[in-house]
Amino acid sequence: MTTRVFVTGHPVNHSRSPLIFKHWFSKYQIEGDYTRIDVTPDALSGFVAEVRAGSHAGGNVTVPHKQAMRALCDDIDEAARAIGAVNTIKSENGRIFGMNTDWYGFLANLDQKRPGWDEMPGPAIVLGAGGAARGIVYALSLRGFSPIHIVNRTLDTAKDLAADLSPSVSAELHAARLPDFDSLAPKARIVVNTTTIGMHGTRFDALDLARLSSDALVNDIVYIPLETPLLADAKALGLPVVDGLGMLLHQAVPAFEAWFGFRPEVTQELRTLVERDMGLS
Ligand code: ATR
Repeated sequence: MTTRVFVTGHPVNHSRSPLIFKHWFSKYQIEGDYTRIDVTPDALSGFVAEVRAGSHAGGNVTVPHKQAMRALCDDIDEAARAIGAVNTIKSENGRIFGMNTDWYGFLANLDQKRPGWDEMPGPAIVLGAGGAARGIVYALSLRGFSPIHIVNRTLDTAKDLAADLSPSVSAELHAARLPDFDSLAPKARIVVNTTTIGMHGTRFDALDLARLSSDALVNDIVYIPLETPLLADAKALGLPVVDGLGMLLHQAVPAFEAWFGFRPEVTQELRTLVERDMGLS
């Protein structure tokens, strides 16, 4: 029998998730059907009721539904509760279980590309304080990074995020402004960009990456382009860098496992497939 799963968002036509899942269906000879389903915010609770009744085994959830989905689930995992967003659901026995796998995707990408990256955790800088920052702060805290400086254009947004996440993480969270980067940089072990800067030719214009220690890792969750100006500048200074495409691939692994019962592999073959589809290589 075919197992039906989906990705829902609004819009959702840009999602590369079908490509990733269809690759795994074919590789592991699974009878699966993965479709994009555009659902407006108003229609989300009705859609979830259908899934609860068994229309699908589960699905991925993307913008703008990740926060709203949390309240529609019957139960959620610890990460989804802390991060405040659900990006994967599973329907079982008339109940919807919600998970967050973004934090896992972030960690698994660095583990695969830079084994040992977290051996000496210390201070971290997270650029941005939006939805994506929450999963990254949660993930860095799990690996022992502290303090985590949430560096944002709008200080109040960073302060709100720090106050909101602090009870759920062991790291100390500090809010700061973008111009504070230069003074925080020398002690940072890792810098992660969680903003949309880097897309469409945009760039940070005032970050002095030369103030980072020579082994500080620089990671960008933007993957279009694969080498953002931030990563290009870091690379030119000889700093270790990891691009963001792997996070997209790895966050799909726990979803696949929840629906099909085993962990699929993120291989170079899969990465190349997605890169080509996006016109990145
Ligand atoms: P997401 O949920 O995908 O993380 P978001 O909630 O819109 O997206 O968050 C976008 C982040 O990028 C915010 O931290 C935002 O900073 P503000 O809180 O000051 O708005 C940051 N951001 C977006 N465009 C920016 C720009 N041109 N310069 C500086 N920061 C920017």
